[in-house]
Formats: sequence, C-alpha cells, structure tokens
Amino acid sequence: MPIEVVSLTEADIPEVIDIIQSAFAEDPYFQWVFESSQFNKERNSDSLAVRCRWGINNAIFQVARETEDIGVNDEGSEKNGTSPSVSASSRVVGVSCWLAPQSPSAPEGWYSWYQGWVLSCRQMLNNVRHWGRGGLQTNRYWIWKDRQQEAQSEIWDDPKGYYFCNIVAVRPGMQGMGIGRKLFEAVTDRADREGVKCYLESSRDVPNVQIYEKMGFQMRKEMECRDGEDVCMLYCMVREPKAGH
Ligand SMILES: CC(C)(COP(=O)(O)OP(=O)(O)OC[C@H]1O[C@@H](n2cnc3c(N)ncnc32)[C@H](O)[C@@H]1OP(=O)(O)O)[C@@H](O)C(=O)NCCC(=O)NCCS
Repeated sequence: MPIEVVSLTEADIPEVIDIIQSAFAEDPYFQWVFESSQFNKERNSDSLAVRCRWGINNAIFQVARETEDIGVNDEGSEKNGTSPSVSASSRVVGVSCWLAPQSPSAPEGWYSWYQGWVLSCRQMLNNVRHWGRGGLQTNRYWIWKDRQQEAQSEIWDDPKGYYFCNIVAVRPGMQGMGIGRKLFEAVTDRADREGVKCYLESSRDVPNVQIYEKMGFQMRKEMECRDGEDVCMLYCMVREPKAGH
C-alpha cells in the first residue's frame, strides 16, 4: 500500500490520538511520568487534541496515510469519475511532530508567545473539566523539563538552531515497514537542503537508538531523569545535515 506524508488536519486528530496512545502505551517515559493507577485516558485524549490543534499552526505536524491508487484504465479514460493519478486517502498509519529551528539569539515572537498562552489556557480548562491532570506526576514532568533544558544547552551549539522531533509514532502492527523512515525523511530531507541539524530525545534505548542511527542520528548524551529511586533514561541524538541535497 503506498504511503504519503501530509500535514495534519483537524479531521485526522482522533486517529492521531489513537496511534499515539497505542504506540506509547509501553513507553518508559510515559510509564515514569504518569501514575498508572490514576491514568485518565479521556483526559489524555483531550490534552493530545489541544496539542494537535496547537501543532497545526505552530509545528511541523504530519501524518503518514495509506493511499488507494485509483489510477486510469487502458484507454486512458478515467475510472470512478476521477482525474488520472488521483489518489483517495484512507487511514492514518503514523504521525510526527517537529519544532522548526529557532536561532538561540532570536527573541520569541508575539504570535508564538500568544499561541503558547492559548495552549496553556486550554490545558488548564482540561484540568477543570477532568478534575485534575489525569495521573500526570507534575514533579516528574518538571524534573524532565529541567534535565532537558540542561541537555539542550550542553548540546545545542549551532546558531541556525535544530529541527526538534517531539513526537514520532507508527500504528502498532505497522511498525518496521518503512513508515517511520518516510515520516523522518519528510523533515530530514528539508534539513539537508537547508544545512540544518536535527535533534531528538529517544525514550527507548533498544530498538529506537538503532532505528534512529539508521536515519543518520548519533548519540550525544544519556539523560537521567531521577525521582528518588525511580529513574527514566532518555537518549539525546543529533543528526548532521547531509551534503548534496
Ligand atoms: C520508532 C518508530 C517511529 C520507527 O518507525 P518504523 O516505521 O517502525 O521504522 P521503519 O520501518 O521506517 O524503519 C527505519 C529503519 O530502522 C530499521 N528498524 C526498524 N525496526 C527495527 C528494529 N526493531 N531493530 C533494528 N532496526 C530496526 C529498519 O530496518 C529501517 O532501516 P533501513 O531503512 O535502513 O532498512 C516506530 O517503531 C514506533 O512508533 N515505535 C513505537 C513508539 C515509539 O517508540 N516512538 C518513539 C519514541 S522516542
């Protein structure tokens, strides 16, 4: 089945939430940051929906979808009343969210600040609607944010900034079929043309670090998020742009 990578739309959001929740169900970071006995899936869905809507305007939020090739018949006339080479889209099979590179010296623009404020307000409304954060352990969230800040200030030294991969997930059952590579290449090809580095934090060592190495990323730092005895490791990786694009 051919796959195309396109920008996220409002209509894709329910499928995207389903993919993220199922692909990350066993994720070590999610298991560390959420208290499993208090996890509220509905609250999490609403939070992801808010993040998706923010991402449509403020990030490179893309989906991989299966396409059904309608094509043309032998005489060249159109089948199904469609134009030649038209493809009908079907289900979403993967998702990625990247932040565009920001020069560290550039101040945040008012639009970005306003959009961040709207995002925070909507998440607060979710807290009210669902009577809390749905099992999110906020102390751990802030431990992670602090370690992330430290890692990025240690690793990010390029004045052009970095394409930052925030989310990547492929529908369980369809992993290992080249969909993740297509999602990555939609951004890494652009990064190569622009001569910009890419960055990600993997929440799994095996097999993800090896998968990302195949995409051209190299390990830069093992980031330890510790809350007492409970530790979550994240793997910070950087991809240098390839010449010749
Ligand atoms: C990580 C993930 C996005 C990768 O997407 P994918 O569609 O499974 O990956 P692909 O099939 O495109 O494979 C990409 C490369 O990694 C290799 N690869 C795939 N699975 C692998 C595995 N288990 N071990 C080693 N290499 C693997 C492939 O051979 C391919 O290399 P090649 O193109 O040079 O042959 C996907 O597996 C996933 O959603 N995992 C669960 C959620 C997750 O962990 N998200 C990321 C959190 S940091």
